[in-house]
Order: sequence, then structure tokens, then C-alpha cells
Amino acid sequence: MKNIEISRPKFEDIEIINQFFVTVLKHTFDRNDIGDLLEALNGEIIDKRKKLNEDFECNGESRFFLIAKDGEKVVGSIEYGPSSDLINSCTDGAVKDVVEIGTGFVHPAYQEKGLGNRLLNELFIELEKRGIEEFCFDSGYKSAQNLWVKKFGKPQYHLKDYWGEDADHMAWHLKVKDFINK
Ligand SMILES: CC(C)(COP(=O)(O)OP(=O)(O)OC[C@H]1O[C@@H](n2cnc3c(N)ncnc32)[C@H](O)[C@@H]1OP(=O)(O)O)[C@@H](O)C(=O)NCCC(=O)NCCS
Repeated sequence: MKNIEISRPKFEDIEIINQFFVTVLKHTFDRNDIGDLLEALNGEIIDKRKKLNEDFECNGESRFFLIAKDGEKVVGSIEYGPSSDLINSCTDGAVKDVVEIGTGFVHPAYQEKGLGNRLLNELFIELEKRGIEEFCFDSGYKSAQNLWVKKFGKPQYHLKDYWGEDADHMAWHLKVKDFINK
């Protein structure tokens, strides 16, 4: 894990980054027993691809990714950008002007070894540099919700059965200074 480098995405890596999104999303859907929701899976794959393109188009100004690589292999990602329609509808517009963190992905073979925390912290450092004090994020994956509750506390917004029976959606609105590690 020590040799993993976190940096801005390179345009020539666009295909391997998109392939990485597919790998993580398929694994996450299977793990959450929703691997049969092919339309939703494809929607997520397209959404991540679109966001990565936005970063290249604005040169990291309004959509900003960080990518972790182990040698030539993409093993992690994270980004922030304008808050999405989904989180805005779940929070009654409370985070309309707050940046949203998303695409927090770690390759299945590299999970639970601290890389997710490293990516988050690098992003917090960037937010602080840019004078951004607050962020929001959401999660509908049960497998990640436990982890986020442990790390960030109870969500301010908890929508029970949002995706169906026993499939909740959670959203957090937090301050960078409370979580950054300098
Ligand atoms: C969620 C994800 C990004 C976390 O990355 P990671 O590298 O596995 O996480 P880390 O090893 O850095 O651990 C982060 C924290 O979560 C905790 N954690 C890790 N796995 C956990 C689990 N299965 N259950 C509960 N807590 C867990 C760690 O102890 C750590 O807590 P700490 O900060 O209090 O020490 C990664 O697992 C992943 O890509 N999952 C699939 C995609 C996904 O669901 N992304 C999130 C979308 S909302």
C-alpha cells in the first residue's frame, strides 16, 4: 500500500479509469445483492464516466477528481463537484450550494487497508486550500453505510426504505475542519 500514489487524473488514463469504475460498481452491486439491477448499474457507470469527462473539460475547476494508482493500475478514486439532484431532493434543498463528495471507490482487492481514508483526506486538504468549508455526500449502499456512520456519525438525513424494503438512503452535511488530518 505504501507505493500507491494519489494524483490528478491523466487524460491518457481515461479508459483504465472508466474500466476501474465498472470493476468497483459491479463488485459493489453484487455485494449488496442488487447485481440484477442492470439498468441502475449502467446508470451509475454512465454517471461516473460523465463526471470524469466534466473534470477534464473544466480542468478540475468545478469537478475535481483524485486518482490512486499502484504502478500502472488504477486502485482508487474520489471527487467533488456541485451537489446532485438526488441529494438535493433528499435534503429539501439544504445543500444546494454545498459541494458533494462522491465516487469514493477503492478496488476490491485494496479495500479495508486505509486507502479510502487517504483519498478522503487528500480531498479535504484540497477543499481547505480552495476555501471550501462544508461538504455533503450520500450513500444508498448498505455495505458502505456502516462504514460512513462509523466515520462521520449518524446521517442528518435518513430516508427509510427509500430504494425499497429495508434499503435506506442516507445523506450527511458536514464541516471539513472536523475531519481533516493535517
Ligand atoms: C467505501 C470505500 C471507499 C472505503 O475505502 P477503504 O479503503 O475500504 O476504507 P478504509 O480502509 O480507508 O477504511 C475507512 C474507515 O472505514 C472503516 N471500515 C472499513 N471497512 C469497514 C467495514 N466493512 N465496516 C465498517 N467499517 C469499515 C475503517 O475502519 C475506517 O475507519 P476509521 O477511519 O475510523 O479508521 C471502499 O470500501 C469501496 O470502494 N467500496 C465500494 C464502493 C462504495 O461503496 N463506495 C462508497 C459509495 S457511497
